[in-house]
Amino acid sequence: KNILVLHGPNLNLLGTREPEVYGRVTLDEINEKLMALAGENGANMFCFQSNAEAALIERVQQARNDGTQFIVINPAAFTHTSVALRDALAAVGIPFIEVHLSNVFAREAFRKESFFSDLAVGVISGLGASGYESAVRYALNHKN
Ligand code: DQA
Repeated sequence: KNILVLHGPNLNLLGTREPEVYGRVTLDEINEKLMALAGENGANMFCFQSNAEAALIERVQQARNDGTQFIVINPAAFTHTSVALRDALAAVGIPFIEVHLSNVFAREAFRKESFFSDLAVGVISGLGASGYESAVRYALNHKN
């Protein structure tokens, strides 16, 4: 199983970024836990974070040719803005889960809109870092 984990803008600041909203766990800690989970289950995992929309789009496009079978993505603020990143996921046709650390439905109105949710296999929002773990566990068992 080949799983790609994508993190959008500002998630490199996890740990210090609004900890009351996003928790104190760092992105490296999240990725290390996911990598360990993948390793225990004999899966390959690649984790990538960018603050740039273009870099995320290019990484999704690359997934079409590198054997990626499942994507776990937290598009961060691009959730609410990026038709282009949505189109990239639609173009590659690789199943994905949308993850948010915070409960986007309990926050500002603009966070309730997502360009990704209707294409996603599922959406996890509000469970903090454990949301990523649940998504990866699902991906490990997903048949495709
Ligand atoms: C987020 C929620 C988004 O609304 C926000 O822009 C983020 C992080 C989350 O993980 O809770 O940057 O995706």
